[in-house]
Amino acid sequence: MKKDLLKLLDLTREEIVNILNVADQMKYNQKHGLNHAYLAGKTLAMIFEKNSTRTRVSFETGMYQLGGHALFLSGKESQIGRGEPIADTARVLSRYCDGIMIRTYGQDEVEELARYASIPVINGLTDFSHPCQVLADLMTVREHKTRLEGLKLCFTGDGNNMANSLIVGGLTCGMDVSVACPEGYDPDPQVLDFAKTVTDAKFQLCRRPEEAAVDADVVITDVWASMGQEEEKAQREKAFAGYQVNEALMALARPDAMVQHCLPAHREEEITAAVFEAHAEEIFDEAENRLHAQKAVMYLLMGGENR
Ligand code: CP
Ligand code: NVA
Repeated sequence: MKKDLLKLLDLTREEIVNILNVADQMKYNQKHGLNHAYLAGKTLAMIFEKNSTRTRVSFETGMYQLGGHALFLSGKESQIGRGEPIADTARVLSRYCDGIMIRTYGQDEVEELARYASIPVINGLTDFSHPCQVLADLMTVREHKTRLEGLKLCFTGDGNNMANSLIVGGLTCGMDVSVACPEGYDPDPQVLDFAKTVTDAKFQLCRRPEEAAVDADVVITDVWASMGQEEEKAQREKAFAGYQVNEALMALARPDAMVQHCLPAHREEEITAAVFEAHAEEIFDEAENRLHAQKAVMYLLMGGENR
């Protein structure tokens, strides 16, 4: 494993599969009450520049279950909010803690933090990527479908952090990936360039969700206005009007297709309440798997042979 988890573009298929295998084991240990306090005495600093429910609770709880401690640092209330340089924050936290999880805006901030930190840095969401979420998504799909290779993943909506990470994660694991975005809302060029290099799985960027959804094994969407884009809400509602996951779209996917949504969901916007509720078990398994996947990441980066 590398020192940090900054984006899925940095990981090989073997590294992702290893995380998923360890995550399955973490889940087993947790469900069977087996001791897995691999990070006893270790501390994770969690920096949040944006809101969170799942990321905060799953990291904090996960760290506790691993025998360690997690501390919450709000961007606004810490000295970060008063302009202390990232490079200094990285070097200070490295003297106290054993790992840093950060949720912020620019991917460059996370990369800089990792450059200056001597301890592992984990990306808990940037505008560019959401690697922990997609590890949980891949874990959930594998759990339900027993494999990833050869399955078709369809994403419809904004070419945002989730789309970027799903394209990279899905293709890296041998899934065919089809994405439907309106013009002007495409995934990041770096991700589209990566997709061109993949030879053992198919990638398709479509304008029509009806094209992307055909024979999909898993249909995924995300909010139309991400954190930080609240002012674009009205304009985005117009742009994404035809991109909803609804029963008509699901009828084009395979009859046993799953639905994933990273949450929070806006019913009747990117997904109908009917589709959401019909797939609620899969969606809340996905939310639960954040805990297990991140425990695997923390164990691999902060525990055992690595530290
Ligand atoms: N899916 C996700 O990252 O949720 P939170 O914003 O609640 O952390
Ligand atoms: N794309 C969303 C994901 C939230 C978990 C956002 O960035 O707000």
